[in-house]
Amino acid sequence: MWNRAKSIFSIIALGLCLAAGAPCAQQAPPQASKAQHTLQKAEDPWWKHAVIYEIYPRSFQDSNGDGVGDINGITSRLDYLRDLGIDAIWISPMYPSPLVDFGYDVSDYTAIDPLYGTLADFDRLVSEAKKRDIRVIMDFVPNHTSDQHPWFKESRSSRTNPKRDWYIWRDGKGPGEPPNNWQSWFGHSAWKFDPTTNQYYYHHFYTEQPDLNWRNPQVRKAMYDAMRFWLDRGVAGFRIDAVSRLFEDPNLHDDPILPGKNAYGDPNIAHKYTDNLPEVHEVLREMRRVADEYPGNPVLISEADEPNITELTKMYGRKNDEVQLPMDFQIADVNKLSAPDFRRLLNEIERNAAGGQPHYFFSNHDQPRQWDRYGDDVHNDQIAKLMAALLLTMRATPLMYYGEEIGMRTTDPVRKEDVQDPIGKIGWPEEKGRDGERTPMQWDGSKNAGFSTAERPWLPVPPSSAEYNVNAESQDPGSILSFYKRLIALRRSESALRDGRYVPLDRDDPFVFAYLRKKPGKGDAILVVLNMSGEPRTVKFDLAADGIRDSSARPLIAAPEMAQEATVLNHFTIPAFGVFIGSVH
Ligand code: NOJ
Repeated sequence: MWNRAKSIFSIIALGLCLAAGAPCAQQAPPQASKAQHTLQKAEDPWWKHAVIYEIYPRSFQDSNGDGVGDINGITSRLDYLRDLGIDAIWISPMYPSPLVDFGYDVSDYTAIDPLYGTLADFDRLVSEAKKRDIRVIMDFVPNHTSDQHPWFKESRSSRTNPKRDWYIWRDGKGPGEPPNNWQSWFGHSAWKFDPTTNQYYYHHFYTEQPDLNWRNPQVRKAMYDAMRFWLDRGVAGFRIDAVSRLFEDPNLHDDPILPGKNAYGDPNIAHKYTDNLPEVHEVLREMRRVADEYPGNPVLISEADEPNITELTKMYGRKNDEVQLPMDFQIADVNKLSAPDFRRLLNEIERNAAGGQPHYFFSNHDQPRQWDRYGDDVHNDQIAKLMAALLLTMRATPLMYYGEEIGMRTTDPVRKEDVQDPIGKIGWPEEKGRDGERTPMQWDGSKNAGFSTAERPWLPVPPSSAEYNVNAESQDPGSILSFYKRLIALRRSESALRDGRYVPLDRDDPFVFAYLRKKPGKGDAILVVLNMSGEPRTVKFDLAADGIRDSSARPLIAAPEMAQEATVLNHFTIPAFGVFIGSVH
């Protein structure tokens, strides 16, 4: 790790806190303290209408030529995000970290890794974002720390250390045998033997990411204080990592073995005793109480790769007192253009017992980009527009991943020696890791696509950047980027799209997914028609029962463009992979 020149602000702040003998990470935040605000609980909070955008900070914009993105780089691109129509950015972890899991192995929860900048840089980012009406959401990693975190160093030092119980330590079953058959999500046993004290510690992810013991009240307090540290600095909430894995069965039952082997060569297992234990919800309620201490409706987003709608619904809390936005992995994992699958899943979440706000996305830093998962290699640009229209017209808070708006594609390493993500090294060649979806943002046609002036950025810039970049696409009204901008602008201007009811149409059509977004009590609505097949399709809509009297729809956005005759409701013809968004009364 290298040092970055500190700004005047941080030098002065450092001097002051050293003089006062205070721990410097606690320097006063520039935002007004929570005591100065009155607690407001809006009926209609900002996160219901926001378009949220995930930034992988290593890859967004490098401001100092070291080949890795940083905070000042993000700040320099805020105008772009404002012009795109983004309301909030979630930034993947920027805490100090040995970077085994590129920041998801945190060694200090209340500081910024010098690789990304300083706390002063962070404060400037928050305040510059605020000037553009953009909120900043932090990533929060409560399940595990880095093995280099001082808490773990203490914990491993002896069986009687006061922090011993902050992590999960157990005796092996016998010599050389781990306590049970639990497996790491990243391959092989989830237990690592530590010779210092002759016990094993539990790690759901890499061995360098020991799990915290959330049954210990001191752990909870320390983590909630870390949340307050960032809320005091003006963040608008947290995306909470791996939240369903916070607890494990204290009796260490073996997980059930399933048929077959996984990409790491281990037997498949059901993570029955390490996933979704009921205690998770107690912690989520406590986290929510912390967030609710603050004004401005801070949001909690859970990384909830839940197996079904029942588990997903639990994340909202029985009294809507847990997270406001559980990320819906079922929608993200449809992985094929299937009108029946999307329709079924949307109907399920519409009926979620908690009545919670859905939160949809198609791409993130852990899975191949949507262009490659949904594209057919012939109509990929059109399919990118189709997926954008789906994301931005559903009744949900949409979450975008940097670069999806320009059609960035997954670019996996071709040689094992180039792999950065450890799971790509463990699982090569079957599992190539997640480098492919984390490549640098493609800003323009210059060196490294304008991401960095370094000779070699931390990951190579994909060749597709020559054609697919912000600069080129900004000048092309038919580009994917221009399409996203129009959609987001429409979402802002049409209240039916932002918060109207979802009314499914054509319930049995195997190819065309169509729905209305309807304002309560009003006859007017937005009609969305998405052709998820490679053939033109003709469908018939009878919207009289929905209070619609029009015989044809008025186009607002269509791709490809459609003739007015095509939009006659009882004989509606939509082109292959076509998108139609129109108004009806
Ligand atoms: C989920 C994160 O999204 C992923 O990138 C990380 O490796 C694991 N959690 C472990 O923190």
